[in-house]
Amino acid sequence: MSVEQVEAGAQKAGMEVAVYKRLGVELADGVGCVVHTTDGRELIDFYGGHAVAILGYRHAGLLAALNAQATRLFFQTNLVDLDVRRDAAAALTALAPGDIDRAFFVNSGAEANENALRVAFRVTGRSRVICLEGGWHGRTAAASACTYDAAPWYGFPRTPFDVTRVSASDSAAMAAALDDSVAAVILEPVQGQSGAKDLDLSFLRAVRELTAARGALLIADEVQCGLGRTGFNFAIEAAGVVPDLITAAKGLAGGFPAGALLMPQRIAGVLKPGDLGTTFGGGPMACALISVVAKTLAAPGFLDHVRAMGELIRATCKTGPVVRIQGRGLLTGLVLSRPTKDVIPELLERGIFVGGSGDPNILRVMPPLIIEEAHVRKLAAALAEIRA
Ligand SMILES: Cc1ncc(COP(=O)(O)O)c(C=O)c1O
Repeated sequence: MSVEQVEAGAQKAGMEVAVYKRLGVELADGVGCVVHTTDGRELIDFYGGHAVAILGYRHAGLLAALNAQATRLFFQTNLVDLDVRRDAAAALTALAPGDIDRAFFVNSGAEANENALRVAFRVTGRSRVICLEGGWHGRTAAASACTYDAAPWYGFPRTPFDVTRVSASDSAAMAAALDDSVAAVILEPVQGQSGAKDLDLSFLRAVRELTAARGALLIADEVQCGLGRTGFNFAIEAAGVVPDLITAAKGLAGGFPAGALLMPQRIAGVLKPGDLGTTFGGGPMACALISVVAKTLAAPGFLDHVRAMGELIRATCKTGPVVRIQGRGLLTGLVLSRPTKDVIPELLERGIFVGGSGDPNILRVMPPLIIEEAHVRKLAAALAEIRA
């Protein structure tokens, strides 16, 4: 059998494992904030591949960095120093609040969270983690132990460490749960999978004070809400809070797999060689792209644009089936009067690509951060055409 025959057969028989319900759209390419289907249709991408395509498609800076690095050094490990990794760490930590000035690079959001939890256990010598109802932290064992409603993934309820879950934005419940057995509180300042649900800023401040007072670490999972998406470098900055650890991934390398764990030297200094590790994390290709993303976010006016587009969505998109808009910046939850599963195809028919969420009635709008006013106006016009 020829390679061509095998490939044709695989496609025909659907040889991929069917764990995703597909949208019925096949994409050929993308440019800027627009993607094209193989049958020649143009869609404005308001989903960005789960908030990954942070600078859109065919971004000149990302392409140039990728090409230059690929021809220079495609891969090397953390056993060796690399200028490209040093540059990425400097550019990324320059975005971080307060005393956070060290980066450890990994490959995904779940891996960043696994390592954050590991650091918290190591630094505190404690074994309990507090997480929130509605929180989403990834699919690996430790990350899923902290993820709301993840027990069915493993088919049994045991977690690899003690977990206490409190309701989001409930400061009294947090105060009651946060005793001296707690190594860390892990939370998303804006809960992405829950439908871009922004936590009360007063709650974030209370958690900061409580964790500091009781010797626990505060882990801000900024995998979805970080990196400029809310109009702040990191979403927790809206509360004026500096966490102990920040995790980032998704758009970190503009679509190339990458994650990072950020921390201050007071924590990094506790770690010894061998405490953390990874084969691919911190590889030169990802790092070349991370520098481009971080420097683009730092450019004057970039975050102002994100905020302006977020405000425009709030001002124009409460129309048609949209009854309420939540979230912050360009991590937006459109609360609908009808199920998202019915509205998503109606938007696709009108050239608009949005995503669902863990809530059957909340659409997530999280486009590339370079989205323009004309795109948002088309989203609003499409929504207005759809019945309430
Ligand atoms: C807030 C948050 N944390 C962690 C993850 C896990 O990231 P990854 O899929 O890269 O492992 C996700 C993924 O959706 C996420 O939204």
